[in-house]
Amino acid sequence: MTPRPETGTADASAIVVAGGSGERFGETGGKQLVSIAGSPMLAYTVRAFDRASSVSEIVLVCHPDRVDEYGAAVREAIAPTKPLVAVAGGVTRQHSVERGLDATAGDSSAIVVHDGARPLVTDLLIDAVVAALWESGADGLVVGHPSYDTLKLVEEGVVLGTPDRTRYWAAQTPQVFRAEVLRNAYAAAFRSGLAGTDDASLVEAFGGTVRMFEGPRDNIKVTVAEDIAFVEAVLAGREARP
Ligand code: CTP
Ligand code: MG
Repeated sequence: MTPRPETGTADASAIVVAGGSGERFGETGGKQLVSIAGSPMLAYTVRAFDRASSVSEIVLVCHPDRVDEYGAAVREAIAPTKPLVAVAGGVTRQHSVERGLDATAGDSSAIVVHDGARPLVTDLLIDAVVAALWESGADGLVVGHPSYDTLKLVEEGVVLGTPDRTRYWAAQTPQVFRAEVLRNAYAAAFRSGLAGTDDASLVEAFGGTVRMFEGPRDNIKVTVAEDIAFVEAVLAGREARP
């Protein structure tokens, strides 16, 4: 098992996945470089990882046709202080994370995976999740929150049941893992053809222990164009704070 690093050591590799095409966003060029208060959305996301003291390097997984464009846009907006490498993603998010894993340094003890489309993540959240991974003893930690809404089990429009909401959590990113556990889970998923909708589900499938980390409500994934107004409002609120 990877030893726990000294407190305060920057030792986690970050994989920021921005390899999707942003179809639901509905604008040519996708959503990753959409301008928010004059800077590309992706730059806000990457900036949080550049500022997080637990992170040593950032792998930015880009749409295959736009690797240079994304890399240049982020560098121009934030002039990162950490090693930042831009690589091409794959057909699915899982393929993109796989490409990201291949590009990480290989000697970090933790790997943080995050959606490029969640620009409201903060360095404080990232550092807290990485620290909590080592404190928890788990293989992985997922940022999320208990479902705010009542959930219905539905088939062809008909409600079959109302599960106990308190036991259901919405899962977001960042998701942080012991590095070798995540690498092994991705390799095993590749061999067996398992497809998961997030990183933790692969670790779960191969017997890893995953815990939830209750995060802030505003850590949304920009999916449709209307989401930008929300992101702008949250950022304006942060600016206004003393
Ligand atoms: N992603 C990726 N590679 C893919 C698909 C998705 O790196 N092949 C990334 C997206 O860029 C995004 C994150 O995974 O940052 C979450 O995906 P989603 O919100 O679904 O983004 P898109 O796939 O780009 O959007 P859509 O599904 O509307 O096309
Ligand atoms: Mg998608």
